[in-house]
Amino acid sequence: MKKATAVAPANIAFIKYWGKRDNQERLPLNDSFSMNLDGALTTTTVEFIENLQEDSVELVGGEFSDKEKQRIIRHMDRIREKAGTSMKAKIVTKNSFPKGAGSASSASGFAALTVAACGAWGLALSEKELTVLAREGSGSACRSIPNGFVWWHAASQSQESYAESLCPAQYWDLRDILVIVDDSMKQVATTDAMDQVKTSPFWEQRVEGITEKMKALFTALKEKNFPLLGEIIEEDCLNMHAVMMTQEPSVLYWNSHTMALMDAVYAWRKEGVPVYFTIDAGPNVHLIVEAGNVDDVIHKVKHLDPNFSIIHNTPHKGTTIIGEHLF
Ligand code: PMV
Repeated sequence: MKKATAVAPANIAFIKYWGKRDNQERLPLNDSFSMNLDGALTTTTVEFIENLQEDSVELVGGEFSDKEKQRIIRHMDRIREKAGTSMKAKIVTKNSFPKGAGSASSASGFAALTVAACGAWGLALSEKELTVLAREGSGSACRSIPNGFVWWHAASQSQESYAESLCPAQYWDLRDILVIVDDSMKQVATTDAMDQVKTSPFWEQRVEGITEKMKALFTALKEKNFPLLGEIIEEDCLNMHAVMMTQEPSVLYWNSHTMALMDAVYAWRKEGVPVYFTIDAGPNVHLIVEAGNVDDVIHKVKHLDPNFSIIHNTPHKGTTIIGEHLF
């Protein structure tokens, strides 16, 4: 039977990917670095079925738009090309978190799809090759395949732009308290927004500064220096959003709740609580803390606004094949 199921985590970038040097292959302008999240998982089952006329794609408890379906089928075509087959497949996928909530559903989605489809066909690819393939589906998906804390290399050659684990999930008990201030679909898709990156007067400065930032991040990781790590995370988030906001047309993903939380983080730090924020392409805020401060920070968030929902994430392993299928 040509069937397999994979579970993939979403990831939160500490140093973010924004902008491509090549659209076709999704080669990024800059290196990025992320942590896998155990509270935001996608499970996908793929079965290649003889004589099936076309791929069937289903999202449990939701619906894919036609555009999303086409993107999934295009990714299946890449995998079929590698496998040397034209056989179509049935694909069923399930998220443990709201789609489009800025919690990287495309990252876990394309990581799970890549690993499940390759597993179903029996394609023996290395982890590095899987990350290159997942990257072509959705850039940040490559970072959801290796274990724990992951570095995605920017390069001009496809095979060199891969992701690898720098430390396993157990290395550092960091937490990501994801505060969902708005769970509607995001306004501007990252693929479209990224295409305009070079209209920002700041994009080149951003790219030029990344090597130094990565170096500082390696030091923070090696020393488990949380304040240093937090400063880098927050600085890079603001830097990326400055580029987004100054693009033509401008992309502003924040709303008033986002800013209230950012303000609160500054105030909590003044009170002596080591907590830092980061924000992806949406209004929701990721609060990064060490394990010992989780309860305090969750309490503070609930006090700020009891309507916010919270996903508490610990660092997670990468994408794995499991024996239990969705159909
Ligand atoms: O998920 P993608 O590949 O469309 O890119 C998302 C980019 C950000 O989430 C905004 C930053 C990042 O590195 O995750």
